[in-house]
Amino acid sequence: MCGIVGYIGKTNNARDFLLNGLEKLEYRGYDSAGIALSNKDGIHIFKEKGRIADLKKITNYSIESAVGIGQTRWATHGAPNKINAHPHQSISGQFTLVHNGVIENYELLYKEHLEGVTLKSDTDTEVVVHLIEKFKNDGYTTEKSFLKTLNLLKGSYAFALIDSKDSDKIYVAKNKSPLLIGLGDGTFNIFGSDALPMIHLTKSFLQLFDEEIVIVEKEHVTIKNLNGEAMQRNPIEIELDIEDIEKGTYPHYMLKEIDEQPFVIRKILKEYKGNENGFSIDKEIINSVIESDRIYIIACGTSYNAGLIGKQYLENWSSIPVEVHIASEFSYNTPVLSTKPLFIFISQSGETADSRSVLKYIKQQNYKALTITNVQSSTLSREADHTLLLHAGPEIAVASTKAYTAQITVLSILAATVAKKKNITLGFNLMHDLGVVSNVIESICEEKEIMKKISKEYFSTTRNAFFIGRHLDYYVVLEGALKLKEISYIQAEGFAGGELKHGTIALIENNTPVIALNTQEKTNLSIRSNVTEVVTRGAIPCIISMEGLDTPEDRFIIPKVNKHLAPLVSVVPLQLISYYAALERECDIDKPRNLAKSVTVE
Ligand code: M6R
Repeated sequence: MCGIVGYIGKTNNARDFLLNGLEKLEYRGYDSAGIALSNKDGIHIFKEKGRIADLKKITNYSIESAVGIGQTRWATHGAPNKINAHPHQSISGQFTLVHNGVIENYELLYKEHLEGVTLKSDTDTEVVVHLIEKFKNDGYTTEKSFLKTLNLLKGSYAFALIDSKDSDKIYVAKNKSPLLIGLGDGTFNIFGSDALPMIHLTKSFLQLFDEEIVIVEKEHVTIKNLNGEAMQRNPIEIELDIEDIEKGTYPHYMLKEIDEQPFVIRKILKEYKGNENGFSIDKEIINSVIESDRIYIIACGTSYNAGLIGKQYLENWSSIPVEVHIASEFSYNTPVLSTKPLFIFISQSGETADSRSVLKYIKQQNYKALTITNVQSSTLSREADHTLLLHAGPEIAVASTKAYTAQITVLSILAATVAKKKNITLGFNLMHDLGVVSNVIESICEEKEIMKKISKEYFSTTRNAFFIGRHLDYYVVLEGALKLKEISYIQAEGFAGGELKHGTIALIENNTPVIALNTQEKTNLSIRSNVTEVVTRGAIPCIISMEGLDTPEDRFIIPKVNKHLAPLVSVVPLQLISYYAALERECDIDKPRNLAKSVTVE
């Protein structure tokens, strides 16, 4: 949520880096944006409500600058408008600050330290910049003033601060919000909320940990803790293909990412391939799973939906009991834990605040944690005992697609590897069957015209839609409904077919679209009965069946795959019809309203 960037160098490249960098981070928040450029004439601030494209329109391109900071915002405190957009400045204008995170005690800090100061914005951030100036006026150095302020804050932050009287440095700090320093070639240094805005300029990065500050200069980077003590850190290499972060000829990232799913599955098969047509996963991870007497999967949104499928694999294939919990509810409904629990965190971004807070809690109790994530060296990965990577490449569209199929694939490989270690025979060859899945997804992705037609017919004007399924299909329809609602704004809900008659069927009226998923022989007849029940009450059904279970009334037939792996293929038509529904309704597909890709506030 929110993205920040910064540049300091010998040449006047700040503006272009900031504007282009913010575009790369726009998926993190996009209701307003701003930059501050520093040069010999002072600090020049440009900010605007809306997208980076709007900010670009009001930026004065004649201003040359070698130092700058910027932010793209997902509003938490204060409406999304120009005044609340970052950067924020102190009263005298000496200090300029951008922020990603939430300062929980900002009202208290204002009362205790800033009585009489008139705030211009409704943000929590503005208080921070005034505090820094207050301490500076009390006689502290800028670094000390920044440190003193940070020591008072409760909450999450990634900050970048410019002191106009000493703009050869940018002060950066991090706590709970992600931030990465990009090391330049000796003539510049850069930073950003993730690697995407920097990857074209460097592959060498410094990771930051919570409660650290960094003094970024054009030729040096100094990391300190909140006591002001210098910390040593070796750089890490991050290899990202520039093509992975570009849309190419695709109109939207979401469509590109849907199409990438077969390649992602093949990549995962390659990454986790072991000897003799089997898989290889770090022995320590397998042992942690085997030693546990119960697994607790913690996740949010789409990752939670993937966890529901993962539970089936881990229980049915490797015979370990599994509970799946929504991260944000875990602290209220903490279950009675088993004697040897293992926590599995599933998160595309690896930065989701709700999941992070559960990880923090369970680490305090000394429980073991495994993170399954797409982002190497993300916080959830660093703070867990083990990590399994998704190898899906950057997922940029807010609606998660390829991460979902990657999560299910990795969970299936984990479950199968544990089963093998426990001498449990699965009765099928997972490696082979996942290969078939990848081919089938490719063939479904070629059926875009059919998906477009279905979307037009069912979703062009409707206000709501229902998705039904049973058994594994039930979990997939939860994901299908989430996809449709988040990008097309149609109120869509997924239900277990058998649950309809216990209440939901009251909502069915003439022309209500009901999407029914039918991939499991076991539930074929019962889900068809549920379809009949809703049709009797006026619904227009769209049945998506697995080959072999199909009848002439079905709208789309999925080529046959291993029944356990059906979720990997059956979700694809649901992703595509959601995409085309949103397109038909002229929605902003990659950046749906009110959302952000990486949810770093609780
Ligand atoms: O990065 P994470 O997987 O932890 O994110 C969790 C959810 O915020 C995310 O899956 C969200 O539900 C997606 N936008 C859904 O498409």
